[in-house]
Amino acid sequence: MVQKIRIIDAKDHVDEEVKIGVWLTDKRSSGKISFLQLRDGSAFFQGVVVKSEVSEEVFELAKGLHQESSFYVTGVIHRDDRSHFGYEIEVSDLELVGESEGYPITPKEHGIDFLLDERHLWLRSKRPFAIMQVRNEMIRATYEFFNQEGFIKIDPPILTGSAPEGTTELFHIEYFDNDAYLSQSGQLYMEAGAQAFGKVFSFGPTFRAEKSKTRRHLTEFWMIEPEMAFTTQEESLQVQERYIAYLVQSVIDNCAYPLQLLDRDIETLKKYTKLPYPRISYDEAIKMLQDNGSDIQWGADFGAPDETYISDQFEQPVFVLNYPKAIKPFYMKPHPTRDDVYLCADLLAPEGYGEIIGGSERETDFDALRERIQAAGLDEKDYEWYLDLRRYGSTPHSGFGLGLERAITWICQLDHLREAIPFPRMINRIYP
Ligand code: 4AD
Ligand code: MG
Repeated sequence: MVQKIRIIDAKDHVDEEVKIGVWLTDKRSSGKISFLQLRDGSAFFQGVVVKSEVSEEVFELAKGLHQESSFYVTGVIHRDDRSHFGYEIEVSDLELVGESEGYPITPKEHGIDFLLDERHLWLRSKRPFAIMQVRNEMIRATYEFFNQEGFIKIDPPILTGSAPEGTTELFHIEYFDNDAYLSQSGQLYMEAGAQAFGKVFSFGPTFRAEKSKTRRHLTEFWMIEPEMAFTTQEESLQVQERYIAYLVQSVIDNCAYPLQLLDRDIETLKKYTKLPYPRISYDEAIKMLQDNGSDIQWGADFGAPDETYISDQFEQPVFVLNYPKAIKPFYMKPHPTRDDVYLCADLLAPEGYGEIIGGSERETDFDALRERIQAAGLDEKDYEWYLDLRRYGSTPHSGFGLGLERAITWICQLDHLREAIPFPRMINRIYP
């Protein structure tokens, strides 16, 4: 029996006969030879069908294959130094599995709206393949990193009654006779988790009814939210930079092929593994923008162009520390010596990508927290459980949230978040 393998394992089967389930991405045929471009989800490589080496029937079948038809290919693996991948298969037999007629995504260029309408098929192409490989590696490395650091993963609910990040961007749902929302952040629940288990992280979908169409906003995105008891903001910043450097190093180590497909320069990525990352204060960032001719005033939140300008001034990710209270949520701990800012930081990715992490130390003062919940227009009774965390054995604690698609967009050097998630959800898109 011929062994069934996947393309990615071709290197272990040189000069052996193997069988692979594949789809056709493209082909070129002459009277005597056909070159089949094949994919099986693990990699892309070439199959060569030589007329004189196969039956008449197999050669005709190869010549007549359509783009994205599925079949089993049997043959011997050879080295192929001319290709990216380094191996090819010399075909001896073909067995058609699924025909494909009129596949809409042809090898020519297509517009982005067309490709997004065909996202269920577009995922089969090389570029989405490469991005999803990097995404998968970042997810794998995330679990590895936090497990190595002694965190446990706990899962906050998706259906919630609380609004940690403000009430304007909530997806409201009917929950029997009550109101509920799709979670915009698991943080408040992770704070409960930290007081139970010390160091916890979550990784799950979060939702924001973002009305704006920007390249940095999805309405459904995935967030990693670590939360740590007995931990200051300073200690949290060190975890954050170690984590980001670990993600980048893991992608460098394990995604050489996807990075090559994306034409991403590895030397550039290597710079991001050097620690520590630079830090500036919000005040300094405002000054930087003003010196560049911006009319932004102290107290304003940064727009995307502001973040781009700031992050462009650094070769590495940069922490912006201590934002004004008015532009950040109620749960943050005030700065010990200034009454106008919080103990918080955003991490801005280099190359103009902007915010990838938001984090802070959390308020532990019961009365101050209750006042700010009221001032934020939230219903105190929905937060009694959260206040309990300050009633019973409260600790200094800190945490942060990394937007997975923001980090992928930066590491893969994409133009828009929509390519960083398999099925993007945006204000004007819920299909497919
Ligand atoms: O800065 P944000 O709003 O912070 C929080 O939600 C905190 N509760 C996190 C925490 O401390 N546990 O969001 C965190 C990150 C942002 O830095 C960004 O990377 C990403 O989530 N993000 C989005 N990603 C895609 N689309 C959106 N609409 C996003 N909004 C935030
Ligand atoms: Mg933020």
